[in-house]
Parts: sequence; structure tokens; C-alpha cells
Amino acid sequence: MKHKKLDDFPENFLWGSASAAYQIEGAWNEDGKGKSIWDDFAKIPGKTFENTNGDVAVDHYHKYKEDVKLMAEMGLKAYRFSVSWSRIFKDGSGELNKDGLKFYENLVDELLKYNIEPILTLYHWDLPAALQDTYGGWESRKVINDFKNYCIALYKDFNGKVKYWVTFNEQNVFTSLGYRFAAHPPNVTDIKRYFNANHIVNLANAAAIKEFRKYVPNGKIGPSFGMGPVYPYDCKPDNILAQQNAEEFFNHWWLDVYCFGRYPKSILKYLGEFQIAPDIQDGDMELLQSVKPDFIGLNYYHGGTVKACTENKNDRKSEDGRFIDPYLVNNLDCEAPESGLFSSIKNPYLKTTAWNWEIDPDGLRIAMRRLTDRYNLPILITENGLGAIDKLEENDVVNDDYRIEYLRAHIRACREAITDGVELLGYCTWSFTDLLSWLNGYKKRYGFVYVNRDEYSEKDLRRIKKNSFYWYKKVIETNGKEI
Ligand code: BG6
Repeated sequence: MKHKKLDDFPENFLWGSASAAYQIEGAWNEDGKGKSIWDDFAKIPGKTFENTNGDVAVDHYHKYKEDVKLMAEMGLKAYRFSVSWSRIFKDGSGELNKDGLKFYENLVDELLKYNIEPILTLYHWDLPAALQDTYGGWESRKVINDFKNYCIALYKDFNGKVKYWVTFNEQNVFTSLGYRFAAHPPNVTDIKRYFNANHIVNLANAAAIKEFRKYVPNGKIGPSFGMGPVYPYDCKPDNILAQQNAEEFFNHWWLDVYCFGRYPKSILKYLGEFQIAPDIQDGDMELLQSVKPDFIGLNYYHGGTVKACTENKNDRKSEDGRFIDPYLVNNLDCEAPESGLFSSIKNPYLKTTAWNWEIDPDGLRIAMRRLTDRYNLPILITENGLGAIDKLEENDVVNDDYRIEYLRAHIRACREAITDGVELLGYCTWSFTDLLSWLNGYKKRYGFVYVNRDEYSEKDLRRIKKNSFYWYKKVIETNGKEI
């Protein structure tokens, strides 16, 4: 679609930035906080880059005032953060830990003081370890009630102060990495357990939204989905079919549940052939159908390209011999269900980051168009950004022009999508300060604000504004006219 003129960003557009508790807070055992599954997992030798963990992270727990002040200086309109469940309920349920809650109350007040809209994520991967240990976390239906009660505690406390809420962050990522590929906790490789745990998360998501309507009637809630739109390699019909399979397998499998309360028929039937379809019990589908999100939170980094299944694994590698991200399925053997659905291949038109992630701003516009066509809901971009190796130069300069270039192209894609008719509420970059990458330590940085620490030393944790800080400030000031 070529427009004669691009629409402006809406007046109240939420120019924001995002983070997650485990990746920034530190203070892992302070003020009555219980352990989360990440506190345990990151301490298993070899599981994370250079064995990094979030014990200190970037110490936002103690430095939140300084961080929010920087947000205000930048003119940020919205800040997305997550609450760590085990700060609020040490063991996931039972007595509420007032001191833990106080931290988030202070954070929200600090944000509101500067007119920064808080966007609160209820679950960004750090399940209380006690729930994992006592009943197996997301594999037990008991977790639905505990999650619901945890959410209600926050709904009650923040009703009137927090308008935008995110239920689950990237359910597709934490369930597959946690239960299928053992790259996240709980360190499992079992595809049947993966689909079952995922189903239980769906139920918890629906239960949380149902309660939300009672407690926060004027708020808006939705999940943040990690969406990669899938492209067919070419117009060969079996490649088109492969694309359809992959789109359903990677995206509709979650989004249709969130928005329509049903699983895509063909994939559900296909998983049945492998005896790995989720165990759906009486009443489950009714619960899923009884709710609908107010918006779709979109986390976008890159999409993927597929063709009909190929046995030739070299098709699926980039020049440097690495398998194509994002889909770890490239490494799977022919027993995996994907092997009958599609093969992920490299896209010859796209450049990649140092971590082999494709850079594809058009993919963001395509993702938003597909979401709008299929679900007709407003979209809030809850994550988008470039992970790169940044260099701190003399006189505290970080010249991250590559990040500016990346964000500029993606913001342009947002404006194009708005002109196409997409209802876009806001755009949150990942991330505001540098933070701990779950699996890449501090080598891979995303922030506008450099944090002076690395994998080996906490150094002084000094905050240093990168070039992109000043650039995004200008973007916000001009409401996206000057990018
Ligand atoms: C998203 C997550 O998947 O991607 C974030 O929601 C994460 O928590 C981000 O940090 C970037 O991932 P990575 O692996 O590059 O740090």
C-alpha cells in the first residue's frame, strides 16, 4: 500500500519503553521476597551466558528513582514493567508480603509523578519457585487459582492508578523454551508436557481477564505475544501451504485462543496424530471463550521464512553455518511435528543482527496488518528493539547509531501501519536501561541508557545516556514527526 501522505501518530500515543523484573531489579532475596524459578535455574552451571544471574541485575530495586528520573528527562509517556510474583507472595500464595508490594507502589507513584503511564505486566517468566516445587508450576491446574489470587491482589491495589495491564509475556516463548527445549526453567524436554502446560497457561490467562473485569472495570488488559509473521519462500503452492501451517503453528495457536477462545482446527487435529494435543477438560473451552482481551500486546523482533519440508539441513543455515533463528525446530529430528508442516529457511532479502536475528521493519507492519485483519483489536507494541554489543567510549559516550537506525525504520513502519488503518495505542522499545539478557548476560544490550557493569563485575552500575537516548527524546517531543 503506497499512501499519498502518512497519517500523524495520534495525540495521546504512548511512546514508551519496557523491562522485566528479573532482568533489572536485583534484590533477589530482599524485603521478604521468595525465590523464583529463575533464581534457581540461572544457578545451574552452564545454563546462562557466563553463568550470569539476576541477583543484582542492574539494581533497579534500589535505583528506581534515578531510573524514573531519566525516563522523565527523556519525556517518556509510558513505561512497561513486570511485577515479580514472589515479591508479593513469597511462596506464590498465602500471606501477602506488604514490603514487596510497597516497592511497586512506590514505583507506580514515581511514574505518575512525572505523568508516565505505567503498563503493568503480571507475569514475565519468574514463577515463584515454591509453586514449581510443590505442584509442578504450570503443569498443575492448581496454579490457575494461585495466579488468579495474585492478580486480584494487584488489581485491588492498583485499580485507578494503573490503566494498562499485560497478563502473560510471550507465552509462546516461555512455554516452548521451558518445557520443550530446556533452555528456560523448568528445564524440561517433553513436547506433550509442553502443550499441556501451555493449555493451563491459557486457562490462567482467561481466569485473570475474567477477574479483571470485576476489579478494574475501567482498565485495559491483554497478553503480550511474541509474534513473528511467517513468509513463504516463493509462490510454489506447497510453499504457500507450508507458510499457512507455520503461521497457524507459531501464531494462531496462541492468538486464536486469546481472541476467539479456540485452537486452530488443523493444528489441533494434527497434534492429535502425534498424541501430543493438550488435555482439554470439560469447561475449558467455555472459560476460554468467555473472555476477550482489550488489546493485543505485540512483541516484535523478527519473523521467519518457510518452505515445504526439506531434508536438506543446509537450506536452513546462514552463511556462517548457524541454524536460522527463531525456530529451534531446525535442529529437531524428523519425529518433531514441524517436520510434516514446514521447514524454516533463511530469507535471502534480510540482514541479521550479531545474534543472527533478521532485521525486518516491514515485518512489523505486516504483523500489525495481519493482527488487525484477523482479530480487529487495538495493538500495543510492548517490545521492539535491537540487541547489540555497545561500546563505552571515553567521556561516557556510547555511539549507538545502529540502534537509532533500527528503531527509526520500525517507527516508520508503525506510522505506515497506522495509515493503513491499524489502531496502534503505543510503541514500547526494549529496553530503557540496559538489562540482563536471560541467556546472553550483558553482552547483548538493548537500552537507551548504558549500565556500567558486565558479566564479571558489577563495577559501579553507573547510568550513562547513549546517543539513542537523545534521539528518542526528540522523537517523543515531535510525536514521531522527526525520526
Ligand atoms: C523477549 C523478552 O523475548 O525478548 C525479553 O520478552 C527479552 O524479556 C527480549 O529480553 C530480548 O531477548 P534476548 O534473548 O535478546 O535478551
